[in-house]
Amino acid sequence: MLFTSYRLGGLALPNRIVMPPMTRSRAAAGNVPTALMAEYYAQRASAGLIISEGTQISQQGQGYAWTPGIHTPEQIAGWRGVTDAVHAAGGRLFAQLWHVGRVSHVSLQPGGAAPVSSSPRVADGVKVFIDPDGKGPETGVGGMVQHSVPRALSEAEIAQVVRDFASAARNALEAGFDGVELHGANGYLINQFIDSRANTRTDGYGGSLPNRLRFLREVSEAVAAVTGPERLGVRLAPLTTLQGTVDDTPQATYLGAAKALDDIGVVYLHIAEADWEDAPEMPPAFKEALRLIYRGTLIYAGRYTAERAETALHDGWADLIGFGRPFVANPDLPNRLRRGLPLNEPDGNHFFGGAQVGYTDYPAAMAGNDAP
Ligand SMILES: Cc1cc2nc3c(=O)[nH]c(=O)nc-3n(C[C@H](O)[C@H](O)[C@H](O)COP(=O)(O)O)c2cc1C
Repeated sequence: MLFTSYRLGGLALPNRIVMPPMTRSRAAAGNVPTALMAEYYAQRASAGLIISEGTQISQQGQGYAWTPGIHTPEQIAGWRGVTDAVHAAGGRLFAQLWHVGRVSHVSLQPGGAAPVSSSPRVADGVKVFIDPDGKGPETGVGGMVQHSVPRALSEAEIAQVVRDFASAARNALEAGFDGVELHGANGYLINQFIDSRANTRTDGYGGSLPNRLRFLREVSEAVAAVTGPERLGVRLAPLTTLQGTVDDTPQATYLGAAKALDDIGVVYLHIAEADWEDAPEMPPAFKEALRLIYRGTLIYAGRYTAERAETALHDGWADLIGFGRPFVANPDLPNRLRRGLPLNEPDGNHFFGGAQVGYTDYPAAMAGNDAP
């Protein structure tokens, strides 16, 4: 089933294979996407759908060096180069809109301010990647440091962040993206509102589950008003505790989030599963419950092989499957999976920062990168 077509909102996908968002930290000065990034994404255009690396919606939303933004005219123009290249190669591309919240460092924040979060809580041991010497991504050498102590957003500031998401969505459409995905996963700002132990607010954005889901709901509604719900997807990471975000009742919390997103009618829900070695399997009953509560398209990512993907599609709890690290190393992944060809191994030393090496120099298996 991986190679059957699929209708996603207004888009016709030629296969069920998604390239999920992957930060590669190669933006130029001003966090502007480059021609090299355009080449990298265009090489992978045979995916049914590409979702861009996390892309900050504002300077405040940046947490790591050299990640691209989508809040200045130069960044929009840079992304236009990427979307044009992907479309010319026959692909489809959503932008992942990102606000890291507390997972940042004062050196990346406007005016050296403290990063913001739902609550003034530090996640001990959670580190971010900075460029202490301002040398740029080509050196490929940054420093990992503990994230800075955050302060809680006021209600007026929350309203501003919601507007920043909407404005970034407008910019994404202007840059030629086919839609946007909200990064609600992996312990970043939206996740810092959802999870009960990360959010200690006592106002209308904290405490009860509806209150903790309010920020997700407001951002989703504001962005859907810009893009239309058929061009808005949301990524969540239920049942994980990444970057120190812990929830006391994760199944109830994330089924609640899925219900809220179903009410808004977002086109897909993208579930990031635990992806480390020996990670626990997400219980099948939880996946089946998600399927019943959320009626749109379900994407899953996390250590999928062609075989696990076929099982997921066959069992019916997934519609599309993300392959992350396999796409880093195999620009022609759909062709390789379809023909059962061996896969190149990704080189983790070049995931973040650097230039062509470990980025655009992975070979295709066959001349012409035959799209399936
Ligand atoms: C280098 C790298 C960067 C990533 N960056 C992001 C990101 O920006 N946003 C996000 O939601 N997930 C990110 N992820 C997680 C992937 O989207 C995916 O969920 C994960 O790699 C599991 O899939 P895999 O086992 O097929 O690699 C990243 C993963 C990798 C390997």
